[in-house]
Amino acid sequence: MSSDQAPPALPAVILYNPKFGHNVGGALRTCSSFRVPTLLWTGKRVTLDVASGQRLPREERMKGYRDVDMRRHDAPFDLLPPGVVPVAVEVRPNAERLFDFEHPESAAYVFGPEDGSLPSWVLRHCHRFVVIPGAHCLNLSSAVLAVLYDRALKRYRDGLADVVLPGEFEGRGPEENTDVFVGVSSGSMGKIRRT
Ligand SMILES: C[S@@+](CC[C@H](N)C(=O)[O-])C[C@H]1O[C@@H](n2cnc3c(N)ncnc32)[C@H](O)[C@@H]1O
Repeated sequence: MSSDQAPPALPAVILYNPKFGHNVGGALRTCSSFRVPTLLWTGKRVTLDVASGQRLPREERMKGYRDVDMRRHDAPFDLLPPGVVPVAVEVRPNAERLFDFEHPESAAYVFGPEDGSLPSWVLRHCHRFVVIPGAHCLNLSSAVLAVLYDRALKRYRDGLADVVLPGEFEGRGPEENTDVFVGVSSGSMGKIRRT
């Protein structure tokens, strides 16, 4: 089995036919930050083929985020291991509201493209449907962030995960150099003083 066909680790994010590399880059960064090990995307609009000039935005390239298995694959549902719960994240009637949503442990979150929505064949693969409350649709990478942040928050609430702080994880420096954001060294971010 080639690594392209290997079953992905869960939870996973699947982007259906994204249009812009910067949104794939943003999703990658969010996955890495919230310890989501897999990012799959479909379609030919983002190939990240360096030879043809496609690449991740510089910031994402520099960081690497090598802890995320990132693959373009046109049949991502065929790769998913048994027991996974595909969750369509889309503005649809009768979708569960994210605020009330209890995340399946083995979820694969599926997002639509910037210039469309999830087609019916993709929705047919999904077992749960969730909408992010708000007055407007979010940008694709912001939608990924909202869902993975909500998952992280609820896992913390339920005692399933510890807090991970960027300063500690990245080893940015001792805590006495920090201000408001514990673990973020004052040398690497502007200071915001506690009032
Ligand atoms: C920018 S939206 C696509 C545009 C959208 N179909 C529209 O009518 O303007 C890209 C994707 O982000 C996700 N998304 C954005 N806002 C959302 C929301 N409030 N609830 C659920 N999904 C959302 C969906 O997966 C959507 O397909």
